[in-house]
Amino acid sequence: MISILAIESSCDDTCAAVCSDAKILSNVIANQEVHAKYGGVVPELASRAHMRNIVPVVDEALKRAQLSLNDMDAIAFTQAPGLLGSLLVGAQFAKSLSLVLNMPLIAVHHMQAHVLANLIGEKKPSFPFLCLTVSGGHTQIVKANSPLDLEILGETLDDAAGEAFDKSAKLLGLPYPGGPLIDKYAKEGDPLKFTFARPLPEGINFSFSGLKTSVMYFLRDAQKNDPEFLQMNMQDLCASIQYTIIEILIKKLIRASELTGIKEICIAGGVSANSGLRKAIEKTGKEKNWNIYIPDFQYCTDNAAMIAITAYYKFREGQFASLKDSPSARALW
Ligand code: KG4
Ligand code: ZN
Repeated sequence: MISILAIESSCDDTCAAVCSDAKILSNVIANQEVHAKYGGVVPELASRAHMRNIVPVVDEALKRAQLSLNDMDAIAFTQAPGLLGSLLVGAQFAKSLSLVLNMPLIAVHHMQAHVLANLIGEKKPSFPFLCLTVSGGHTQIVKANSPLDLEILGETLDDAAGEAFDKSAKLLGLPYPGGPLIDKYAKEGDPLKFTFARPLPEGINFSFSGLKTSVMYFLRDAQKNDPEFLQMNMQDLCASIQYTIIEILIKKLIRASELTGIKEICIAGGVSANSGLRKAIEKTGKEKNWNIYIPDFQYCTDNAAMIAITAYYKFREGQFASLKDSPSARALW
């Protein structure tokens, strides 16, 4: 039995988890409320909050797993990508534990971990599978040949899907992060009421910056004629923006499945918590005969359970890090 303590601190959530082999024993997340009033994550405030949170979060993860530090076989941390100051807190903490406890260290790529969140739980995809990874910083379609052999087939050329949600939400006057609020209001709205730009670049790459610009000009013109427009149409606006983002994502996923012939389809990343996207994938899956896998809600947004499961597969392959392995804001796959 391999027990691993994993730490994730790439952005604004301080997370720790413990796994025993591929089973997650605990998954603790401390959200940072401090950023909401600034309309986005403030890197310096995020690192300071990680410094305050990391000890209690790790303690709680061990407590819930009913294990102690000495029961661990390795310490894992998110190496990249992310905010450098935030990554450094988790990396230095993990390195210190590894040094003091004389335990191996495992460095994990955040985006690989999002994909492998699909290997947590009972219902697992078989290899090869495709994963649509949609987060605040990334939008990718990945082909997983095995747990540690992942290929990026397509990705965004500009904004990520999460950014398209958050930036549109900001234009609607909603607080950060706007994705979950658009999801909430969209449930009551008409998705076909308004039409926005749907940029569809060649192949299976994505582009979302044109959508954001089209929302911006549309709102500017509509509010010129009617100052109440935003308040009166909030639900329909959210539903129409969400519908457009989902349509782009699904079109590219269908293309990727057709090109590869793969029908094992997963989603991952914060945006996979979106209820409209979940429904659309289920519906497309029925039409296309796909087997669909969607991680539990707690494993979609940033969490350390996904770091733990990835670290478990790295442990089995002997892929250990050294104290010299530094975190990096942008890491190559
Ligand atoms: O994966 P994640 O937690 O952090 C990153 O690695 O970026 O993703 C965060 C993103 C944010 O853009 C947030 O607005 C979006 O996921 N998000 C959602 C929902 N929940 C989180 N977007 C749409 N609908 C949701 N329910
Ligand atoms: Zn993430």
